Amino acid sequence: MPKKDFINIGDFSPAELANLLQRAIADKAEFRDGRLAPSLPGKTLAMIFEKPSLRTRVSFEAAMTHLGGHAINLTPADVGIGTREPVEDAARVLGRMCDGIMARTFSHELVEKLARYAPVPVINGLTDYSHPCQAMADLMTMQEHFGRLAQRTLVFVGDGNNVARSLAMLCASLGVGFVLACPKGYELDEPFLAQLREKYPQASVQTLRDPAAAVAHADVIYTDTWISMGQEQEKAARIRTFGDYQVNAALMAKAPAGAIVMHCLPAYRGNEISADVMDRYADIIFAQAENRMHFQRSLLTVLMAEGGVSDGVGAGKE
Ligand code: CP
Ligand code: NVA
Repeated sequence: MPKKDFINIGDFSPAELANLLQRAIADKAEFRDGRLAPSLPGKTLAMIFEKPSLRTRVSFEAAMTHLGGHAINLTPADVGIGTREPVEDAARVLGRMCDGIMARTFSHELVEKLARYAPVPVINGLTDYSHPCQAMADLMTMQEHFGRLAQRTLVFVGDGNNVARSLAMLCASLGVGFVLACPKGYELDEPFLAQLREKYPQASVQTLRDPAAAVAHADVIYTDTWISMGQEQEKAARIRTFGDYQVNAALMAKAPAGAIVMHCLPAYRGNEISADVMDRYADIIFAQAENRMHFQRSLLTVLMAEGGVSDGVGAGKE
């Protein structure tokens, strides 16, 4: 049965995830050559945003334009999911008028519920729990940079947050080592790690305290904000706690020569990353941002025009 939604990295097999990445890389080349066929003429994507966004909003909307379709931006004031009407009803209404739904929410369960009640594909555009489209664009960027993913190591320096969770699961699935360097209390949660270990018993997933030790064998040093959307009231405390976890020149001096720095953006220079390191790795960091659009354009085609993700679908056109 092809999968209609894209909500959790863990819902997909390694082959499905690898195929989606290959497909996105192939489609990106066609798009750049002006040969990518518009697969969604006359189709509409509803985009629900409970939180701010630059990349997610623009990448999905631009992708729908490239595919010949249209995207509608819905804010909490427009939809009132859970306040004006139950999510079950909103999902069924959107499913009758639109061909797909992308949602950025606080609660992960809300996106899961949308998917249960909407007859159309639902895509997770970030929840408090995970950010799977980001992880896919990131590993796509790594694959383009290094040529192949297996045996690489990604070291995430900072908070064991939504982005870290999706990256950890995707790395485990694709044979990439994952290390989280974080202060005590900011690790990936145990239920998530248990689920990851059950699915991928051979995966190399580690948590370390010392960022310098963590980056010693890194191919990628990845960081994200110390203060995720919704945690603004913890800002001062988090800046104190994460003070030793900045990705800066001193930390990079401990990393192998060919290591690169990645960031999902938005970046807070002077907190999780220094301005000079941000400048030095700008090419790869902004390629990551651009790849959100390329990956999601292929995902929209697979989900909304080709019937969903399966081992065979999304494998590229060759
Ligand atoms: N990286 C990312 O999701 O960016 P936005 O919050 O701007 O969408
Ligand atoms: N962890 C961040 C990611 C932003 C794209 C947040 O949730 O705010």
